[in-house]
Amino acid sequence: MSIIDNLHWRYATKRMDGKKVNHETLDLILEATQLSASSYGLQPYTILVISDPEIKAKLSPAAYNQPQIIESSHLLVFCVPEKITQEHVDAYMNDIAETRGINVTDLQGFSDTISGTINGLTSEQHQVWATKQAYIALGTALAAAAEQKVDATPMEGFSAPSFDTILNLPEQGLKSVVILALGFRSEEDALSKAPKVRKSKEALYSFLN
Ligand SMILES: Cc1cc2nc3c(=O)[nH]c(=O)nc-3n(C[C@H](O)[C@H](O)[C@H](O)COP(=O)(O)O)c2cc1C
Repeated sequence: MSIIDNLHWRYATKRMDGKKVNHETLDLILEATQLSASSYGLQPYTILVISDPEIKAKLSPAAYNQPQIIESSHLLVFCVPEKITQEHVDAYMNDIAETRGINVTDLQGFSDTISGTINGLTSEQHQVWATKQAYIALGTALAAAAEQKVDATPMEGFSAPSFDTILNLPEQGLKSVVILALGFRSEEDALSKAPKVRKSKEALYSFLN
């Protein structure tokens, strides 16, 4: 299947059948998401992977009882830090040094560049910036799930403050920003056969040749 076939196959599934995504397939989707691009490569987000039915049941009312919360196999909750700190930058520098076998002191210039950016922003701006990066990861996860023939519903229809409380995110300095239900479409889902509605290429693109 080509990427175009996969993207036609996928849709924001409204009803799932409760079947489980197997470990190997889940791992592939998570690894693809891990490989997502981010500004500076900082990956300023954490992703909770929830399969516990009790936790999903607690979250359901906070997502307006949208059925995908309960009927999904796994629910991914994309979270951003309340504030991006020097510790985040230092941890990233250490990862680069270790992965590429270089001395962390050689990365001082890069570290200063990132620190300069974050020091010039308020914590609200950190969250906005981090959220943009998290949405790129969300897009990567959507494409990877489609390639694996796993249904996926990106969702903003939830109360982030309620999710944060239920998941104890403030204790970890995190805030939820968007969620992704993974699972398999139910035959009852009328939308599964609906043709995709997208802007025409003429309306979407403006070529400056
Ligand atoms: C950021 C984002 C938030 C969304 N929130 C919800 C949601 O809360 N519930 C839902 O059923 N669909 C949600 N959707 C799905 C969109 O309605 C859907 O992607 C859009 O109508 C295009 O249809 P398709 O993805 O099925 O091709 C969301 C999509 C995105 C990208």
